[in-house]
Amino acid sequence: INLDALTYAGNAASLADIERQFGGSRYFFEHGDICDRALVVSLFEKYEIDTVVHFAAESHVDRSILGPEAFVKTNVMGTFTLLDAARAAWKTADGALRQDVLFHHISTDEVYGSLGATGYFTETTPYDPRSPYSASKASSDHLAMAYAHTYGLPVTLSNCSNNYGPYQFPEKLIPLMILNMLEGKPLPVYGDGKNIRDWVYVEDHNNAVWAIMQKSVSGEKWNIGGENEWENITLLQSLIDIVSEKAKLDPEKVRGTITYVTDRPGHDRRYAIDCGKLKRELGWKQGVSFAEGLERTVDWYLGNTAWVEGIRSGEYQSWIKQNYGMR
Ligand code: DAU
Repeated sequence: INLDALTYAGNAASLADIERQFGGSRYFFEHGDICDRALVVSLFEKYEIDTVVHFAAESHVDRSILGPEAFVKTNVMGTFTLLDAARAAWKTADGALRQDVLFHHISTDEVYGSLGATGYFTETTPYDPRSPYSASKASSDHLAMAYAHTYGLPVTLSNCSNNYGPYQFPEKLIPLMILNMLEGKPLPVYGDGKNIRDWVYVEDHNNAVWAIMQKSVSGEKWNIGGENEWENITLLQSLIDIVSEKAKLDPEKVRGTITYVTDRPGHDRRYAIDCGKLKRELGWKQGVSFAEGLERTVDWYLGNTAWVEGIRSGEYQSWIKQNYGMR
């Protein structure tokens, strides 16, 4: 059961294959907002839900700087609404909460703040969020853990580093750069380009979430990362080589479109995850190397021009309006 508000980054076309294969039997789409308590409560009843995987969030740092309110609303109030509806739905006759259920909360490494040149975020690193986005995610993490501690709600929590791969909305660094290269547009690098991110392939993130849901005890927190740190500018140079080769572009010409732009306000310098606990205790490991993951990602964007065109033209949003109307 997929509850999605289909806001600007939501795209029903991304799930068309699943809908075709499993729609109405193993897959049910529900259009709506996690802040809508009546709707969320009704879904718990309608589907007798026993497991929640809470991916829903406003996720883009730049947007949180321009308009923080949506982040507080969805990430803080939305998480609260889901948690509280789960608590109500999972109450037994004697008032205790069911323990054969699970609420898995998806979060980010950005809650830990920014690292200097050395060190890693572990599960015990103190929270130090520095953007409206990360502050809203930190708040949602605290609510999730508070529901576990106070009410005994079975909760697990994961904090992941930067994801990349197919279907990613082209506001994030990697798809934005790929599509700008293909369209001959400038490649905007924030600040000096030396900020560092730890990149993990989207399937590896999902496999980690699955492992946690299968094996973790309630109340545990897990870091997920790629162990794959890159300065933005170095990553971009590799991406230029891959895209140029596959799309038959002149790499030197593409390099000439790199444009250093004003830095993001409060731009965190470095993120790097220590995911040793997840590897040791749950046996998870990354399955896709960065070279392989970037190739797959570039191939996907080159091979899915209709999806890209739908986003570029805004047509994917009119599809949503036609099929679901405005809520
Ligand atoms: O670390 C996990 C986080 O990664 C997630 O929690 C967020 O939801 C996700 O958006 C991502 O946050 P970042 O701010 O790191 O991702 P973004 O793709 O916006 O930027 C990656 C780096 O590239 C960052 O240092 C800013 C820089 N950048 C980004 C864009 C979009 C540029 O230099 N130019 C750009 O045009």
